[in-house]
Amino acid sequence: MSTTEPRGLFLTFEGLDGSGKTTQMHLLAERLRHAGRRVLVTVEPGGTAIGAKIRSILLDRSHAGLTPEAELLLYFASRAQNIDEVILPALARGEIVLSDRFADSTLVYQGFGRGLGEEAVRAVERVACRGLKPHLTVYLEIDLETALERARARNQAAGGRETRMDEQSAEFYRRVAEGYRILIGREPERFRVIDGRRTPEKVAEDVWHAVAPVVGADSD
Ligand code: TYD
Repeated sequence: MSTTEPRGLFLTFEGLDGSGKTTQMHLLAERLRHAGRRVLVTVEPGGTAIGAKIRSILLDRSHAGLTPEAELLLYFASRAQNIDEVILPALARGEIVLSDRFADSTLVYQGFGRGLGEEAVRAVERVACRGLKPHLTVYLEIDLETALERARARNQAAGGRETRMDEQSAEFYRRVAEGYRILIGREPERFRVIDGRRTPEKVAEDVWHAVAPVVGADSD
C-alpha cells in the first residue's frame, strides 16, 4: 500500500428516506467504539460548516425553483468539502469512517430520480470524489409505501422546516428505488442489503454481522 493510500475503512449507509439508516449508523458507531475502534461519523449533505450551509439551501422548501443541475452540483460541492476536510484525514489516521449517504445517493436521487442520467452524475463525481469509494455500503431496504408514509410523518413532525425532498412524488421514489436496485446488481460485493422493515434492534444485529468481518471484529 502506498503512503498516500488511506489506511482506514470507509463505510456508507444508503436507503430510501425513512429507511432508518441514520439510527443504524449511530448504533453501529457505538458498537464499534465499544469494540475499541476509532470511529468518525459524518452526514451528507453536510458534515462540515460549509456543507451545513449547502444542506440548508438544498432542503429549504422555499427553494422549489432549484434546478436539477444546480442541485446535483450542490450535493457534490458539499461532498467535495467533506472529503478533504473530514473523510480523508480520518482515513489517513486509520479510523473507520461511517457516512450517512454518499455518491450512491446522488446517482439514484439526481441521476435516476431527477432524470439527469448516470453519465452526468459520474462526470461530477470524478471531479468531487477523485476516486474515493466506500469499502462497504449498507443498504437498508424498505418498501415504497413505508418510505412514503415515514416521509410524510416526518414532514409533519418537522413543521415544514427541512422538507423539500420529502415532498417528492411516489413516482420519483419508485425511480430512486429502481436506481438502488441497479447499483446493487452491479456491485453485489460492495453492498450489504438488509431488510429495514423490522425492529431497530433486529436490523442492528444484521448490520453488525455484515460489518464485523470487514472491520476485523468478532461478529458474535
Ligand atoms: P437525509 O438527510 O439523509 O434524509 P433521510 O434521513 O430522510 O435519508 O437526506 C436528505 C434528502 O437529500 C433525502 O431525501 C435524500 C436527498 N439526497 C439527494 O437527493 N442526493 C444526495 O446526493 C444526497 C446525499 C441526499
